[in-house]
Amino acid sequence: MAKKRVLSGMRPTGRLHLGNLHGALANWIKIQDQYDCFFFIADWHALTSDYEETGAIQDYVRDMMVDWLSAGLSPEKSTLFVQSKIKEHAELFLILAMITPVPWLERNPTYKDQIVQLSNKDLSTFGFLGYPVLQAADIIMYKADSVPVGVDQVPHIEITREIARRFNYLYKKKVFPEPEPILTESSKILGLDRRKMSKSYNNAIYLAESPKEISSKASRMITDPQRMKKTDPGDPDVCNVFEFHKLYSDIEMVTEINEQCRIAKIGCVECKKKMSENLVKALEPIREKRDYYESQPEMVEDIIRTGTTKADKVAKQTMEEVRAVMKI
Ligand code: TRP
Ligand code: SF4
Repeated sequence: MAKKRVLSGMRPTGRLHLGNLHGALANWIKIQDQYDCFFFIADWHALTSDYEETGAIQDYVRDMMVDWLSAGLSPEKSTLFVQSKIKEHAELFLILAMITPVPWLERNPTYKDQIVQLSNKDLSTFGFLGYPVLQAADIIMYKADSVPVGVDQVPHIEITREIARRFNYLYKKKVFPEPEPILTESSKILGLDRRKMSKSYNNAIYLAESPKEISSKASRMITDPQRMKKTDPGDPDVCNVFEFHKLYSDIEMVTEINEQCRIAKIGCVECKKKMSENLVKALEPIREKRDYYESQPEMVEDIIRTGTTKADKVAKQTMEEVRAVMKI
């Protein structure tokens, strides 16, 4: 039986951090063998909110591809590509825009939420309202069965399903399947300040970080907020450092810290030091791969080109079908 097709994308907003790695990316890496995967960098989507400052986007695209490859996305297993290199996305977006009722977009909860969250930007544009239409084009272009996304993106998948259904109904042929969302569990680790790890909060640890930066950032992490002095017992269950230990330390160390913290036998300084040593070790292979890809920019270009060629074939085929059923 043919493998099911999975598709997902990320906007190129800068270097990836551990929150991204343990959220979406780890999941993508895991499912590469089971599914026919298409993963792409949504650089046109970056324009919807960052249309005033576009100068860094292409650097971010390359950085993101390097981070993906270093973390373990494989160009042999998955089709890795860049949205703006496949102009069919724009054509399908235009066609879908013709059949999408504006109220579907106006009542999109993600849209309403973002307008409030990003109040420093003028998002009263046609393109920003139409964001889910472009996303729908990305998805149904490849006739994806499933789309792994975070919970904030579920309304966009719902709109995609509605648009696919409407297209099939209007042109009397089931050209597009209705894709299912696969919910990506969000990462349990938090930023240095215990808020959600995010570039904009300035509390992130990046994949590309040096060992020195990692240990300096680890030493600044907020631990159990109730624990003031080393002699106070701590509670690992509310401590972000402990969440990191669970990911990066072996089971013996996790068990030991879990016991010793509660009876104040280990202090946070020592605990963080142990954690950051293990984190540095765990990120070492990623760092080595990064250095390798950084030194081989033609190779990264080549990987993008190969993936884009594969995706382009599928996109061209879909657009022929679309034009045929619409008789245009
Ligand atoms: N909107 C997604 C996000 O911000 C990115 C994205 C664009 C996407 N096109 C997509 C995700 C298609 C899945 C499928 O995270
Ligand atoms: Fe957290 Fe470790 Fe400090 Fe306990 S000892 S509160 S687990 S940092």
